[in-house]
Amino acid sequence: MSARRSPEYFGGKKIQVGIIGLGYVGLPLALRFAEQGHQVKGFDTDPGKVAKLNAGQSYIQHIPADRIAPFRSSGVFSATSDFAEIAGRDAVIICVPTPLDERYQPDLSYVEQTARSIQPHLQREQLVVLESTTYPGTTEELVLPILEKSGLKCPVQRDKHAADPATDFYLAFSPEREDPGNKRFSLAQIPKVVGGINAPSRRAAAALYGQIVARVVEVSSTQAAEMCKLLENIFRCVNIALVNELKMLCARMGIDIWEVIESASTKPFGFMPFYPGPGLGGHCIPVDPFYLSWKAHEYDFSTRFIELAGEINTSMPYHVVNEIAAALNERKKSLKGSRILLLGVAYKKDVDDLRESPSLKIMQLLLERGALLDYNDPYFATLHRMRHYDYAHMRSVELTPHALAGYDAVVIATDHSAYNYQEIVDAAPLVVDTRNATKSITRNHAKVVRC
Ligand SMILES: NC(=O)c1ccc[n+]([C@@H]2O[C@H](COP(=O)([O-])OP(=O)(O)OC[C@H]3O[C@@H](n4cnc5c(N)ncnc54)[C@H](O)[C@@H]3O)[C@@H](O)[C@H]2O)c1
Repeated sequence: MSARRSPEYFGGKKIQVGIIGLGYVGLPLALRFAEQGHQVKGFDTDPGKVAKLNAGQSYIQHIPADRIAPFRSSGVFSATSDFAEIAGRDAVIICVPTPLDERYQPDLSYVEQTARSIQPHLQREQLVVLESTTYPGTTEELVLPILEKSGLKCPVQRDKHAADPATDFYLAFSPEREDPGNKRFSLAQIPKVVGGINAPSRRAAAALYGQIVARVVEVSSTQAAEMCKLLENIFRCVNIALVNELKMLCARMGIDIWEVIESASTKPFGFMPFYPGPGLGGHCIPVDPFYLSWKAHEYDFSTRFIELAGEINTSMPYHVVNEIAAALNERKKSLKGSRILLLGVAYKKDVDDLRESPSLKIMQLLLERGALLDYNDPYFATLHRMRHYDYAHMRSVELTPHALAGYDAVVIATDHSAYNYQEIVDAAPLVVDTRNATKSITRNHAKVVRC
């Protein structure tokens, strides 16, 4: 390790990088640094994950083991739960969860616990970067005071034109823009936004990320970088709510929303398509906007767009279940006692991620209303007990024409590419499609209800 780690040092070769939290964000990031020739140590409190990684195995479907194993055998990458090893790192990047609690308030306990784990091992001129999505102010108001308990200081610089302050360590925020399963944009191609507690911190983080991504965008503060990520996700959340509301209006007016979106998308400027669905899912879009709403209260400000979008998106699973009941009613059947097969429990197509999946809510509502429910998902052979749901007894059923024919309705909740939609429509007596997955099928179209 160099005797003096200037901000420029982090743009050099063979940096000792530590990644804390080896999940959907942290693991790809660790592998990217390893690919670029840096020594990477991953930290995770889950001993199962640590053991798997050290055995060269993966636990994330879209990250194959052969991306991990070579770095294990060459010694470039290893994982641990021993936070004392932080002392030997030049840079430490925090990628731990930032969920909401039961009352829809930010749960920053993981970030706080991580800062406390770093603090006793913090070294002079070490760089610490927070990547977890959070409200503006978290890095400065929560992480900085904990790290400064070490006795080392990182002065906040408000005036970006002022001379560099003397800083004992570097602290920055850089949001993660990873889109799991996206084959068009890999981590290396997505520009990285960085903001520092002071200018040396910002430059240190920019130099570090400059090694693994094509473009780094420097902003004047950690707050601007934190807000940038929230703007991106609120933009999605609000537009998805808008299109979901228009979907319901279009249905009432007898207009096909999908056709409308497709035609509007031919406008070469000023429009970008968002698609309706059964509700919001994933760890980011349903959660992140509420981080900002919560913080806004501190400023006597109510974020009405976020609240309204939340209201509409949250109501979508209820809408889907009502549409299933209406479609059965048309066929002189009640939801109670009907055999329903739900396809796709993952929150979006082709991923093995259940977090905040609207399918879970739809399943709960169907069960509450007396449906006899099964599910199929190629990524989940079984389900487990979750914070809000207990589907531990359920197993993915086999999709044969005979089995499909035995249900009163088959609901396409997530449009995995593995499904053969024509075969599903041919075999099932009724298909309720929440994703427009059946758009190109040619036979038996009358059996399909889109909602
Ligand atoms: N998943 C995404 O697509 C995505 C995209 C952009 C941003 N983010 C944000 O990135 C952050 C991480 O998300 P994720 O999807 O990778 O979460 P994840 O749950 O997949 O991974 C988090 C990991 O952190 C570990 N962990 C928890 N507490 C820890 C601690 N105190 N010390 C060390 N490890 C700890 C967990 O065991 C887990 O392996 C969140 O703030 C999320 O909002 C996620």
